[in-house]
Amino acid sequence: MELKKIVGYAAAELVENGNVVGLGTGSTTHYFIEKLGERIKNENMEILGIPTSYQSFLLAKDSGIIITTLEENNIDISVDGADEVDSNFNLIKGGGAAHTIEKIVDEAATKFVVIVDDSKIVDKLGAFPVPLEVIPQACRTVSNHVKKFEGIPSLRMAKMKDGPVITDNGNFIVDVQFNAIENPANLEKDLNAIPGVVENGIFAGIVDEVLVGTAEGVKTLKKV
Ligand code: A5P
Repeated sequence: MELKKIVGYAAAELVENGNVVGLGTGSTTHYFIEKLGERIKNENMEILGIPTSYQSFLLAKDSGIIITTLEENNIDISVDGADEVDSNFNLIKGGGAAHTIEKIVDEAATKFVVIVDDSKIVDKLGAFPVPLEVIPQACRTVSNHVKKFEGIPSLRMAKMKDGPVITDNGNFIVDVQFNAIENPANLEKDLNAIPGVVENGIFAGIVDEVLVGTAEGVKTLKKV
């Protein structure tokens, strides 16, 4: 079985009857949401889901998960994918341009579980570019700012649509390539301080547990 599927399915077993669940975005959480839907049906579970994107909203509806919002409920457990995970459980996310809502939901959860295949585990973040969700009018000024942090910015272009990617919130994505990121928590704060940046894809210090799909099965890494 594909590693993303193994780990997505394993994470669905962490959800308990009565939980309010944050539903991450991406190809790995796709399997999590699918399996959670199956469990709800087969085990008669009462679960509410809070999606992090239109993608997870639509998939949750198709999977029979009842949707709620952060206005109405607190989150017991959130499960989400990542583009990179370092040895201190800091993340880069946003490969699917959904990191702003993902960060709001994942950070609000009592328990935040990350699900990845073993190709995403790195010593230091930075091979994957850091996505910035940017107010369209600020695209050029934000791009100039990130050069001061030795980042190389590029506007993410859409596929099957002319022009740039437009996020679920109506903004652009500027991907910034850095060298190895020495201090993810500081860079996360610095990038968010640039006028016009809505949110960046560094998630520092909020992960409780990482499930890693490997050829030998799923490994659970817990915060020490
Ligand atoms: C969505 O914007 C991202 O944060 C995804 O969660 C992340 O890119 C992981 O996606 P995959 O599971 O598809 O690799």
